[in-house]
Amino acid sequence: MERIAIANDHTGRELKEDIKDFLREKGIEVVDLGTNGNESVDYPDYGIPVAEKVSSLEIEKGILICGTGIGMSIVANKFPHIRAALASDVYSARMAKIHNNANILVIGGRVVGKGLAREMVQVWLEARFEGGRHQRRLDKISEIEKRFWKDQAKR
Ligand code: RB5
Repeated sequence: MERIAIANDHTGRELKEDIKDFLREKGIEVVDLGTNGNESVDYPDYGIPVAEKVSSLEIEKGILICGTGIGMSIVANKFPHIRAALASDVYSARMAKIHNNANILVIGGRVVGKGLAREMVQVWLEARFEGGRHQRRLDKISEIEKRFWKDQAKR
């Protein structure tokens, strides 16, 4: 069964619950890494565990939510092999997979409503990476990682 790791800060709880329902309706197993409380939290504390699981290939894909999505994007993209795409529209969410092979979708919980978020998740999951010239471009990004991380997960 496909598995998706999901996490959010305090701004994204409600949207997270709706996305979880949507994923479960589609038969996808959801690994919820919090936060599930109401108190204000620091988004890195929740983005890091998702990025670690996707970076290590323990889980293939992730979804992260904070207020704008910007903080979670910055955190996730620090990790080797993470291509976290912040999207606020369906076209970008689809292209994030087709051209960028994004393995984490990031959504702004204060920016995007539930209906739009569901559509974005749907197209991101359904789209297929085109490879070819896009793989060449991603390879150039991976070369940057190799400069900074000696201790990369084996691929
Ligand atoms: C929290 O107020 C907010 O800063 C956070 O959710 C996120 O938008 C950061 O990028």
